[in-house]
Amino acid sequence: MTTEAPDTDGTNEFATRLAAAYATDGPTVDIGRAMLDGVTHHDAVIQVPLAMCNRHGLIAGATGTGKTVTLQLLAEQLSAQGVPVFAADIKGDLSGLVKAAEPGSKINERVETMGLSYTPAGAPVQFWALGGQGPGVPVRAAIGGFGPDLLAKVLDANETQRSSLALVFHYADQRGLPLLDLVDLSDLLKYLISDEGKAELKSIGGLSTQTAGVLLRKMVELEQQDAELFFGEPELSIDHLMQVTPDGKGVISCLELAQVQDRPRLFSTFLMWLLASLYEDLPEAGDLDKPKLVFFFDEAHLLFNDAPKAFVEQVAQTVRLIRSKGVGVFFVTQLPDDVPDDVLSQLGTRVQHALRAYTPRDAKALKAAVSTYPRTDDYELEEVLTQLGTGEAVVTALSERGAPNPVAWTMVRPPQSQIGAVDPAEVKTMAETSTMWPIYSEEIDRDSAREMLARKMGVEPVGEEPAGDPTGEAAPAAADAGAGPSAEDLLRDSGLSADGVDLSTLPPPPDPPAAKAEKPKSTSKSKSTSKSRSKSSGSSKKKDDGNAVTDFLKSREGRATVNNVVRGIFDLLKKKR
Ligand SMILES: Nc1ncnc2c1ncn2[C@@H]1O[C@H](COP(=O)(O)OP(=O)(O)OP(=O)(O)O)[C@@H](O)[C@H]1O
Ligand SMILES: [Mg+2]
Repeated sequence: MTTEAPDTDGTNEFATRLAAAYATDGPTVDIGRAMLDGVTHHDAVIQVPLAMCNRHGLIAGATGTGKTVTLQLLAEQLSAQGVPVFAADIKGDLSGLVKAAEPGSKINERVETMGLSYTPAGAPVQFWALGGQGPGVPVRAAIGGFGPDLLAKVLDANETQRSSLALVFHYADQRGLPLLDLVDLSDLLKYLISDEGKAELKSIGGLSTQTAGVLLRKMVELEQQDAELFFGEPELSIDHLMQVTPDGKGVISCLELAQVQDRPRLFSTFLMWLLASLYEDLPEAGDLDKPKLVFFFDEAHLLFNDAPKAFVEQVAQTVRLIRSKGVGVFFVTQLPDDVPDDVLSQLGTRVQHALRAYTPRDAKALKAAVSTYPRTDDYELEEVLTQLGTGEAVVTALSERGAPNPVAWTMVRPPQSQIGAVDPAEVKTMAETSTMWPIYSEEIDRDSAREMLARKMGVEPVGEEPAGDPTGEAAPAAADAGAGPSAEDLLRDSGLSADGVDLSTLPPPPDPPAAKAEKPKSTSKSKSTSKSRSKSSGSSKKKDDGNAVTDFLKSREGRATVNNVVRGIFDLLKKKR
């Protein structure tokens, strides 16, 4: 940290110029104080007009340089000024937002160097967790609302598989089959490759049995990541991300992701879904005094890693358009080039912490970062960017009029809230006593594709094994291997339908559910969980007669046994490949 005596005489040309450039009449978010030649200038306040916080931003820097603390600083100030905030807390270290800091010598030193008056304070925080995995109120999304494009991203599906998914979603929409969780989708796929569904499959056109099989296998993999916990209802209502306390503070929604940080594709796509839902649901807002919500996308590179071009375009488009709905998006990442150019070019605020120049990629990223800043005669940017101390950053932000302000080497303020995590047990208690808990803690079970298809096939839904159904797993693996039996062959050979039910003994299916008058929006408004379903269908019984073996195969134990056997076979097959 730079600790030279501050310049306080107010005559310094640099300080006066920077202070004037960043001065504004309205409320602001205060980032810190400008530095030059090792001196921190008390009067050179580097700040962003609150009204410009929907112009998006980037917080970048090497590991340990202060990105998360900067995020925390911005979030607590937005909250204090009545702006709700959403932040993805990847490592769990944002939970400190809820507590007032207990300043130690480092904070005190910083406060003194910057000439600040400093009062510790906590912010109102609502803790959320994806599908309840982690300390927080469970957040869920209906799979229909997720849509084929985002689901394809989560499944790491190729273009053929993505377009096949789109066809299946469209089919479900047309037939009034709500897709609420993974079971709904896997049951629909299984139905389409069953004897009963063959004609329907043909009517869809463009969806092959083989692709359906591969998709099923990918869904099994997704299930193994416990994804079914957060596909379902009640779906998160975006109103609950935009709350203000009775005393006018914006509530900070912290999505606690520490427990799922090993599943980045899943949670980053989920965040994208959230952003897209915000965009869809919010009305046009025009120019506002302050944003309606600011969304912080930490570890943003995870969103773009290996992302198909169409997905990146979709993100860029959402980011571009969501500004007019009053939502600001801040990307937080290590290297600025983690974020695609299309998105980078839309960012108004840049807080660049120290960059390292160890590798050729680092050096390239450093040069690229320099080129995105306005020209400056105050600093050698390439040099400064590698010399910045912890909690220092090179900043540029938009003025009130929307023009870029001069580049400022900035000593970043310490947040008023605690730096670092709060005990997860405490976070859990706070979540469970929050007003959101009674609304979201229990998953809702309602009629959806699974039950409807089961009725169509004349059976009650069989619980327990959602996409991980033995046939679901077996069939696609075989299809994907490109050799051996097809999905259908396997299903036939096993004597079971895709749902593990002996189809040959079933009565003819009743009329398709297409005639159903009321079709819930497949995107979001209803659902049930595989868990609750399994509970409610625990007493599942066959509708037809069969022999003892068939009876056993239809029982939960039988299905579990078949499941294990098939899993074993496919583990072997996988190893061979
Ligand atoms: N503005 C600040 N005021 C006071 N201390 C700070 C500030 N910024 C950073 N620090 C100190 O630096 C440490 C590391 O900061 P932070 O956790 O924000 O780094 P990071 O860039 O998010 O790292 P990572 O990439 O590993 O997530 C903090 O724990 C804190 O001690
Ligand atoms: Mg961090």
